[in-house]
Amino acid sequence: MTQESLVKNEFPFSDQDFDRIRSLLLEHTGISLPDSKRNMMYSRLVRRLRSLQLESFANYISHVEQEVSAGTSAEMLQMINALTTNVTNFFREHHHFDTLIMELEKRIEQQQEIRIWSAGCSTGQEPYTIAMVVDAFCKQHPNVKVSILATDLDTAVIEQAKQGVYTLDKIEVEKHPYLSQYMEFIEPSGSTITPNDAVFKVTESLRPYISFDQINLVKHWNHVKKFDFIFCRNVMIYFNTETKNDLCRRYADTLNSQGLLFIGHSEAIKTTIPSLEPLGGTTYRKL
Ligand SMILES: C[S@@+](CC[C@H](N)C(=O)[O-])C[C@H]1O[C@@H](n2cnc3c(N)ncnc32)[C@H](O)[C@@H]1O
Repeated sequence: MTQESLVKNEFPFSDQDFDRIRSLLLEHTGISLPDSKRNMMYSRLVRRLRSLQLESFANYISHVEQEVSAGTSAEMLQMINALTTNVTNFFREHHHFDTLIMELEKRIEQQQEIRIWSAGCSTGQEPYTIAMVVDAFCKQHPNVKVSILATDLDTAVIEQAKQGVYTLDKIEVEKHPYLSQYMEFIEPSGSTITPNDAVFKVTESLRPYISFDQINLVKHWNHVKKFDFIFCRNVMIYFNTETKNDLCRRYADTLNSQGLLFIGHSEAIKTTIPSLEPLGGTTYRKL
């Protein structure tokens, strides 16, 4: 018997339970789970049932729904945190950061303040990568002020991101000029790291650039200012076409003229958004 089927026997989990949880997830986050994610849902939520000492997924759903109708959302948040996919890395799809530097160079004559949004920042590797690139740029151009807003729906990953502590391959860190410059080795405490991996912390010099916040992209955004660059990469992959198109229209409205939107390599916008010009390389310019 596999580990998975052993786990599956622990709590009743019907097709109806699966459908109800995925429609709650869709309604609250825009994330649309296909049928193939049934086992994933079970294994990620099973520890919530254990910790709440509930006997079935039907009871779990009632618990979440009762909380929501009572106006609280603690367990809904736990459920969302468990079901989001947070895979990320430093310098992921690195051509976007080359474009960022080129665009910053172009702007410095007319603009001294630049605002960047990392929307769906997960555990922070994306905003810290942006901050590394920006800090190196600002050392050459001290008059330019750059701020980065890093947001996610998942409160657990935001907390991790704020810590800025990562287990990374030591050799890769030493090879990468920015990582070796902006990552400090720290002594692991009681960790089970492999010989090549080590624990690193982002340098304090990066922190002033970034503010972290929770923002659900499919709900009202509680910030009003406009941005020059928006990174929303590998987030919309989980959204259906309608949600994705709506979000891109809202990004277009939130970008300053000539601002850029960067999306993930498998997320090309399939509809025409008149104010967004595709530049190739999953980059779009606000006209
Ligand atoms: C795969 S990670 C991508 C991280 C990073 N942008 C990158 O490309 O490496 C996707 C992130 O999107 C977040 N996310 C999913 N739905 C969201 C929503 N409705 N609002 C805000 N963030 C969301 C998830 O919590 C997750 O951390």
